Amino acid sequence: MSAPQSRAHWGSKFGFVLAAAGSAIGLGNIWRFPYVTNENGGGIFVLIYLAAIVLLGLPVMLAELTIGRHTEKNPVGAFGHIAPKWKWVGYLGVITGVAILSYYGVVAGWTLGYIVKSASGDLDPKAFGAFISNPAQQIGYLLVFILMTMSVVAFGVQKGIERMAQVLMPLLLLLMVALIIRGLTLPTAAAGLKFYLYPDFDHLSAKTFLFAIGQAFFSLSLGMGAMITYGSYIKKDDNLATSAIAVVGFDTLIAIMAGFLIFPVIGHSLTKGGPTLVFVTMIEQFNAMAGGQWVSCLFFLLLGIAALTSTVSLLEVATAYMIDEHNVSRGKAVLIIGAVTTALGVPAALSLGAVPALSSIAGGKGFLDIMDFLFGNVSLTFGALMTCVFLVYRWGIYNAATEVKEGCPTFGKYVLFWRIFLGYVAPAAIATMLVYILVTGQGLG
Ligand code: PHE
Repeated sequence: MSAPQSRAHWGSKFGFVLAAAGSAIGLGNIWRFPYVTNENGGGIFVLIYLAAIVLLGLPVMLAELTIGRHTEKNPVGAFGHIAPKWKWVGYLGVITGVAILSYYGVVAGWTLGYIVKSASGDLDPKAFGAFISNPAQQIGYLLVFILMTMSVVAFGVQKGIERMAQVLMPLLLLLMVALIIRGLTLPTAAAGLKFYLYPDFDHLSAKTFLFAIGQAFFSLSLGMGAMITYGSYIKKDDNLATSAIAVVGFDTLIAIMAGFLIFPVIGHSLTKGGPTLVFVTMIEQFNAMAGGQWVSCLFFLLLGIAALTSTVSLLEVATAYMIDEHNVSRGKAVLIIGAVTTALGVPAALSLGAVPALSSIAGGKGFLDIMDFLFGNVSLTFGALMTCVFLVYRWGIYNAATEVKEGCPTFGKYVLFWRIFLGYVAPAAIATMLVYILVTGQGLG
């Protein structure tokens, strides 16, 4: 059982906001958001996405932070503390975090590979296939990325995660602004912006809504207890409501900015999304532009930073679980979880061409795709649904609101809204998504 030592806390509210925004801002914002937007009707998708962020994402974000701060525990301890029978939702979150980290780390590792490629002037758009099917490079970069993640988490909440966020998040913003300015000066900018922002109503369908909702939850790191864990380090006198708004706002800003970065460079609508957007199409454009080698280097640095602040949060969930529930030291917990993650990541890294048996396991999907479907889609969505149901129908909205009111005395006015969105609107939307994902076998987020 847990030792009676006091809980670690963030050094400041702003430090928490940077760390949680770091978790939220990741490959999902900079790489996935632009092409999903493009595939789903441009401006109209952005509008629906914004509505999903405010109406569904924000209430669930506040729910996770509140559960975390109230219990001051990892997801297993947190659910178990309020209702022992709900502990399994916490376990699902811990497992999901490790599973997502294992394949997210593979793609995150590519950013390191592309920083090296850019710096050495080796920007061949056709080299992507050879790169992802090279076993030594895939495993090597995965390992380096996991080790970087482990070294941040090993330093703890304030000295590791918060300090990293204080350095990297301003750098991320700076890089982003610089790259946007460079992109807007290109001759392709006007055409790209038109595709990004022009609302194409022909594309509007039920699927557009589901994709927007899926993107919103994944992008906000909801559904697996990352925000419960980060919330567990928030001080009692901090304002949970404004913290949730700040994190959600920051994440959304970066996603919208990513569109302003990618589309002016690409200059046309994307025919293909997925990995090829960033690692092939962008490379073609960098090749054609003056100073493209260095623009490319900075672009992949930006992507790597965004990914690292997310992988750190994925690792912290299982680490906090080991520390709280098994009384293990932080260093040892990081080593154990890091090893498990790497073991799971290796087959994912080898499933993109290196080992044919791993490239097509079921329905043409390889190991990495299957992991993303099971954990990045089914499990996250299910976890978000359970979080809503748990808070409203098990813990009780007024108990939760009492926790929010500490540090935010005026919250009483908003409790009814919170109850409606968390108790009805969000569960209905999320359950619809879950059915769609399971019936079609297709991932959304
Ligand atoms: N939000 C991250 C991104 O957009 C991914 C993530 C999901 C991180 C769940 C932590 C937990 O890339």
